[in-house]
Amino acid sequence: MGALAVVAAALPAETTGSMVTRTAGINGESRPVSAAAVARVAGPLDDLGAPDPLMSDSGERITSARAWEQQRPELLAAFEENVYGTSLPAPTKTTFSEAGGGGGSAKKITITVTGPEGDASFTLRLFTPSSGTPKGTFLLIDHRGSVGDDPGSGGYAPAATITGAGYALAAVNAEEIAPDDASSYRNGVIDAFYPAGQDLPADAGRTISAWAWGASRAMDYLQTDPDIDPSKVAVIGHSRGGKAALWAGAQDPRFPVVISNNSGSTGAKLARRDSAGESISAINSQFPHWFPETYKRYDSNADALPVDQNELLALIAPGRVVVASAAEDGNADPQGEFLSYLGAAPVYELYGLGDTGLSSTSWPPATGEGFRGPGMSYHLRSGGHGLEDADWDIYLGSDLFTR
Ligand code: GCU
Repeated sequence: MGALAVVAAALPAETTGSMVTRTAGINGESRPVSAAAVARVAGPLDDLGAPDPLMSDSGERITSARAWEQQRPELLAAFEENVYGTSLPAPTKTTFSEAGGGGGSAKKITITVTGPEGDASFTLRLFTPSSGTPKGTFLLIDHRGSVGDDPGSGGYAPAATITGAGYALAAVNAEEIAPDDASSYRNGVIDAFYPAGQDLPADAGRTISAWAWGASRAMDYLQTDPDIDPSKVAVIGHSRGGKAALWAGAQDPRFPVVISNNSGSTGAKLARRDSAGESISAINSQFPHWFPETYKRYDSNADALPVDQNELLALIAPGRVVVASAAEDGNADPQGEFLSYLGAAPVYELYGLGDTGLSSTSWPPATGEGFRGPGMSYHLRSGGHGLEDADWDIYLGSDLFTR
């Protein structure tokens, strides 16, 4: 993919009046694109040298959603090869057994997957409103393993608040899918697919990939639950869980909404800002079990990546991508998350969804405000790293499941 600097240069020259036209839309129809919207997405990325998602490998400019979708598998494969690793295949068998959850409207489901080397199980908890079909379901990749039978109404996973607002909360126990530990991370689902005692291939996904895969298995269950509308499921994760949520959403088009809360390095943050916040070498050395060996090639060498994280966000299109940053979350590089968000907009624009909801590309935007376009949402919360009441207020108040 070419450099984003190309975006501005390749735009149509005639921008007289407020609209330009170019070929766009799923069926290749011509769709008006506002010149202002284009300028908004191109400007701040010009000097960054990040890959341009609209430049194909053969150097041709992608100008329609159809053309984008044709080259999309290659981009996805590049993320697999270089960043997240290859995903586990579909299980040969999956079973769901309900073991009764807490009281009220809670369910506890054990998801058991079978692979060539055996079985593995993990827990999904589901909290639904006391009456009516939920307006949507938030599927949380719960890396803290902290969602029990009654997770309460505040903070990280406020089930009562979510159900009170008319939504459902589903939470998968990520530790059970793949332990967040360098010596035991294979002990969940991974060892159902790879022979124990043999090293994983260098390009095989590790913990983050397994969590994303587990979220898709949870989606398999949600599609069978009569209390849930499976066309309205948002996969959400905070921090390391947010990295997994983005990777799940990029691969699995069944998620119409994908929420990355403070996901930072190898999440929403632009990788080429390696010196801002957590670098690739820092994440790989502190968490050697999160990503494949192949990603370590980019330690102190982010510019050599054939992809960047704005393209990961773009892979979610036309599904809604939601990026949330926190102003004092230096390790996650909130500005890098913001730039990535902007850098995904040209792809959304192909679907007529390129409005970022922001009135300016200047950093920082106002804190505490939910910026919402028809396919993209962003907010910058004041304060530090966390999935907090203020974040949930925005998710529950933004009508994320409608355009
Ligand atoms: C660490 C790590 C981050 C991660 C975070 C979290 O700070 O460096 O990459 O996002 O943990 O998961 O809370």
